[in-house]
Amino acid sequence: QVTTTPPRADGFQVVGTVADLEKNGQLLNGETAAGKVLIVKYPNNTSQIIAVNPTCTHKGCVVGWNQDQSSFVCPCHGSKFASDGKVTNGPAEKPLSTYTAKVEDKEVLVKI
Ligand code: FES
Repeated sequence: QVTTTPPRADGFQVVGTVADLEKNGQLLNGETAAGKVLIVKYPNNTSQIIAVNPTCTHKGCVVGWNQDQSSFVCPCHGSKFASDGKVTNGPAEKPLSTYTAKVEDKEVLVKI
């Protein structure tokens, strides 16, 4: 279960555990101070992580991470976004919002 705690004084908010991220390959938390946040491991086979707001900028579906394509892919109309949130395939025109993410004490934190 993902437990959501309020943002800390430094702006970081715990959004889940490293164990859940490892198990599922991605971690979605729908209840952060900034709304939905999706965290994935990238580049592949490293311990680095990236975080975006997974709300598609086309019509608001929730994008998922496709590891083979190293892209966020929208299931509704096929928009694709690079790991930095930039659009690589329409119909979306605006990038996904990105957040600074880090790991501390086996927890995943995102700066909201
Ligand atoms: Fe994502 Fe249309 S809502 S491509």
